[in-house]
Amino acid sequence: MEKKQKPVVVWLEYQDCAGCSESILRASKPTIGQIVLDVVSLEYHETIMAAAGHQAEKSLHDAIKNYKGKYLVVVEGAIPLKDGGVYCTIGGKSAVDLIKEICKDAMAVIAVGNCACFGGVPAAKPNPTGAVGVMDIIKDKPVINLPGCPLNVENFTATVVYFLTFGKLPAVDKLKRPLFAYGKLIHDNCERRGHFDASEYVKAWGDKGHRQGWCLFQMGCKGPFTNHNCPTIRWNEGVSWPVMAGHPCIGCSEPKFWDNNLYAEAE
Ligand code: SF4
Ligand code: SF4
Ligand code: F3S
Repeated sequence: MEKKQKPVVVWLEYQDCAGCSESILRASKPTIGQIVLDVVSLEYHETIMAAAGHQAEKSLHDAIKNYKGKYLVVVEGAIPLKDGGVYCTIGGKSAVDLIKEICKDAMAVIAVGNCACFGGVPAAKPNPTGAVGVMDIIKDKPVINLPGCPLNVENFTATVVYFLTFGKLPAVDKLKRPLFAYGKLIHDNCERRGHFDASEYVKAWGDKGHRQGWCLFQMGCKGPFTNHNCPTIRWNEGVSWPVMAGHPCIGCSEPKFWDNNLYAEAE
């Protein structure tokens, strides 16, 4: 890998909470320092770069000019289309105009987090800003989706390293998610699956089943309908994942998870 040119990356943030950036800052295999210094050449990232204002704008435009056709764009956050895109602007330009301009000469685009992939929380009903994901706007470049709320950084690193090694993006499903990370249901790798098969369910928080690690299906777990590698790759340096911690999966790697899995149940 040392012999290959490090891919130049520009990381864009639009309608987001920066949680996916927070996730990448907690990378462990490799660390964020190793990613930034050894794996990629990160030319622009609003949350972690030292530059600000016009200096930051210059970094972005220098990167896309100097590495024309040779850079990767990472997008975090949804893009609002309503009313001409006025609900998210940076440096006087709308997010929709910016993403088109910046992706025009990119090699490929990586959408990180549910917001950038499918609209996520900003697109939740009634979607007041007309928020959409990257693939609804960028049609003429390879786009790969790494959903989750937030993104699991290990899947980001694996995607970039795959691209660096093979010169193309990994195989994807119909939602443009890489099969290595989203090819299997949570339910099929869950350590509580034996309890599901034995009809041993948690029925109330803190009950005997909850204390003994039984299945969370009756507490709203969406693991049977959610494709993600959380049970195997886990989070926080592989320490745990939502179901292991006793919380149902809320399906954060699926489109419209907020409306379909949470808001609807709360009504
Ligand atoms: Fe934040 Fe979730 Fe959107 Fe990432 S996907 S920017 S964590 S709301
Ligand atoms: Fe499936 Fe969720 Fe039960 Fe695990 S806790 S077995 S993912 S329903
Ligand atoms: Fe999200 Fe479910 Fe994994 S909520 S983080 S897909 S366990």
